[in-house]
Amino acid sequence: MTGRGIVVAVDGPSGTGKSTVSRQVASRLQLSYLDTGAMYRAATWWSLHEGVELDDQAAVAAVVRAMPLEMITDPHDPHVVCAGTDITEDIRAKELTEVVSKIATNLEVRAELKRLQREILAQEARDGRSAGAGVVAEGRDITTVVAPDADVRILLTASESTRLARRAKERHGVADLATIEATRDEVLRRDADDSTVSNFMTAADGVLTIDTSELDISQVVEGVLGAIADHTTCA
Ligand code: DC
Repeated sequence: MTGRGIVVAVDGPSGTGKSTVSRQVASRLQLSYLDTGAMYRAATWWSLHEGVELDDQAAVAAVVRAMPLEMITDPHDPHVVCAGTDITEDIRAKELTEVVSKIATNLEVRAELKRLQREILAQEARDGRSAGAGVVAEGRDITTVVAPDADVRILLTASESTRLARRAKERHGVADLATIEATRDEVLRRDADDSTVSNFMTAADGVLTIDTSELDISQVVEGVLGAIADHTTCA
């Protein structure tokens, strides 16, 4: 992949810190940042906006193919714009989060978003944020399906209890029995649903696994930067 920017792919289930880590790595290296989960969320927002029944897979796929989506890939201020509306905040709403798996398990939608994601990665690898730099992309199937040829591929893992505690703290400010219970559905049910269509729990060949259970964010960032530096030295 000489003569073009680097593509770094980061996978993993909920609560492994993949968004925070990917954004920080992209900022540190002045790379672009692509949150592919935000694209599944945008597809959900757009389907609801268009009044489509989310269980009607063919109808959802049809509107998603016509979705006027723009991903702003600045890691300092990533934005999602759909039909001229900034939906960056709206796509994080609890009601949308509860139904996004319906969209993420729609195989026609996955095919369309894969196509779009590859297009964005190819363009970012060409243009980068500074010439020749590249992109950090994160999501459930990035290392395996979307960018199996990425320069650096990393799977972030963590124990179930760690993932639950992290998400509970993020959502409720504290991780105790009640907040962990309240977070269980969001983390485990969604991962179980999503894992029916993509395998993000185990590393594919050539993918480096970082178990983040005992690490803080800065340690994981350093691990990913180290893997990129190794690649750059070897390339
Ligand atoms: O990471 P997140 O919670 O923003 O992801 C939103 C949904 O999209 C979630 O159900 C996982 C799914 N997803 C996916 O199936 N493939 C991706 N590459 C990214 C996210």
